[in-house]
Amino acid sequence: MSASVPVRLPGTGDRPPVRFSFAGREIVARQGDTVAMALWAAGERALRASSRDGAPRGVLCNMGICYECLVVIDGVTTRACMTVVRDGLRVERGGKP
Ligand code: FES
Repeated sequence: MSASVPVRLPGTGDRPPVRFSFAGREIVARQGDTVAMALWAAGERALRASSRDGAPRGVLCNMGICYECLVVIDGVTTRACMTVVRDGLRVERGGKP
């Protein structure tokens, strides 16, 4: 992604930082972010692989309807767009829709 394209709305980057991991990578989000938007802002688009053909899948509806954003958070499969970040979350790529 180009550095000139903003990934946050003005004023939303000054909330307190929240740190969690995604597939072993440390992600610094902002308090109130969903996991999906924190990963999007960090440049992570492929959140799981399709069980049918292995194609990368990621955020589509961003409102809890499509289940394309499934990840595993602290061992539980859940929708990244419906989960607010917390310090220390361990997020892994999801496997099945
Ligand atoms: S992006 Fe559709 S359920 Fe999360």
